Amino acid sequence: MKFAKIVGLGKHLPPKKLTNSDLEQMVDTSDEWIFTRTGIKERRIAEKGVSASRLAEEAARIALKRAGLKAGQIDVIIFATITPDSQFPSSACYLQDALKARRAAAFDISAACAGFVYGITTAWQFIAGGLYKNALVVGSEVLSTITDWDDRSTCVLFGDGAGAAVLTESSSAGVLGSYLGADGHEADLLKLPAGGSRIPASHESLEQKLHTIQMKGNELFRFAVRVMVDAAHQAMGQAGIQSGDIALLVPHQANTRIIDAVSKRLQLPREKVYVNIDKYGNMSSASSAVALCEAWEEERIGKDDIVVLDAFGGGLVWGSTVIRWTE
Ligand SMILES: CC(C)(COP(=O)(O)OP(=O)(O)OC[C@H]1O[C@@H](n2cnc3c(N)ncnc32)[C@H](O)[C@@H]1OP(=O)(O)O)[C@@H](O)C(=O)NCCC(=O)NCCS
Repeated sequence: MKFAKIVGLGKHLPPKKLTNSDLEQMVDTSDEWIFTRTGIKERRIAEKGVSASRLAEEAARIALKRAGLKAGQIDVIIFATITPDSQFPSSACYLQDALKARRAAAFDISAACAGFVYGITTAWQFIAGGLYKNALVVGSEVLSTITDWDDRSTCVLFGDGAGAAVLTESSSAGVLGSYLGADGHEADLLKLPAGGSRIPASHESLEQKLHTIQMKGNELFRFAVRVMVDAAHQAMGQAGIQSGDIALLVPHQANTRIIDAVSKRLQLPREKVYVNIDKYGNMSSASSAVALCEAWEEERIGKDDIVVLDAFGGGLVWGSTVIRWTE
């Protein structure tokens, strides 16, 4: 069994901001309601035609530079997204071409907001098993393209962005443990119903807005807290660490009240929990990726720190990864 560590992080957020005050002009909502219920102040929106792979390319170039690796040295690209460029080819293939990462295998994974944790875990296992030495994992979303801008219960929550991480084989353990979970029985709590083989695109599916996010927020909230706490405990158990060893929890940024409830149950004080949802809203797979990158850029993570990723999302899926920072 070989070890893997993260050697480069990058992020890219489209420049255009959509504030809560902007949303007040679009639907019956208020800055006060959005901020107190979710913690969100503003989010980023990609320009028309900007795809998930395009956002990911910017983030990946930064991560590769920081890792000191050329794109040609990457063995595999794992692209987490629920807003792929197209059904096929995968966004990973578009990104492989844009980066000229010619020898990289490339594929997408669909694990919604837990996509980055699923991706990091997959990359870790490829490296640990000896198949690959260098992996690029991205979480990139253009959620604005699947948002119903007339539905105030969902349109205030989401934003666009991308984050990337380069993992490489190492002599000591960076990734210490990981846990992934799923419960397809709860698929109806959060979904994009149409556009696949179950409900192919049609005039009816468009009229019924079945190509936009549908969510049962209240039920999801309770589920999220429970599975995020459990996932973190499972991953910590596998890594052989306790809550007290954690230097920073980097949770999925869906709602500050979910983050607070999870932190409390994990007995972590606020200063050990990274939150940037106020600036970006929920960016699905990109949320954990961007949060990890920003935490590192802001020097909230140092050498030998234990960092825990913890996420949940549509599927339903969830997961947590424990990392010892080696740089
Ligand atoms: C979505 C969420 C913020 C809603 O908060 P909540 O406290 O559960 O609010 P409710 O859905 O119970 O709605 C309360 C009221 O606010 C109203 N409301 C909903 N959205 C609103 C908005 N944007 N502005 C103003 N009022 C709004 C509702 O219509 C409801 O009104 P009513 O009481 O008159 O019926 C919260 O449930 C949540 O974050 N859930 C998890 C969602 C999530 O994480 N999704 C992504 C998973 S990765």
